[in-house]
Amino acid sequence: MKEKVFVMIKPDGVRRKLVGNIISRIERKGLDINRIEMRKVPEELAKKHYEEHMGKPFYDDLIEHITSGPSVLMEVEGQDAIEAVSAMVGNTDPNKALPGTIRFDYAQSKTYNIIHRSDSHQSAEREIMLFFK
Ligand code: CDP
Ligand code: MG
Repeated sequence: MKEKVFVMIKPDGVRRKLVGNIISRIERKGLDINRIEMRKVPEELAKKHYEEHMGKPFYDDLIEHITSGPSVLMEVEGQDAIEAVSAMVGNTDPNKALPGTIRFDYAQSKTYNIIHRSDSHQSAEREIMLFFK
């Protein structure tokens, strides 16, 4: 099924100059980048985006990181795009992610794990609305 997914290169990914690499992976897979924008995510938007995690032990560090500098925000579209991008990104914990995934290849910690992607059709719709509408 052709579908859309929200993808965000987090500030650590931008700082480490992984933007080109990640865009290449998305393009190489044959997915379309419908929208792309580099911008610093304000605290209010970061909190809305991650509201399901409010109160968890990692929440404050997560919000601090996401608002610490510019992120690259994308709407990506293609065949089974949610599953395809999820596979490309890998497990939340970089040391549990498979070799070859973005998180295994570049990250050491869960807070600084380079990239976000919507995990379902419903969250994709919600996140695209939140960041682009
Ligand atoms: O990003 P993903 O969907 O893989 O993970 P999540 O469970 O939705 O958590 C959102 C983000 O919170 C993760 O990408 C991590 O940056 C952070 N997190 C963390 O720092 N420690 C955890 N135990 C779980 C998540
Ligand atoms: Mg998630």
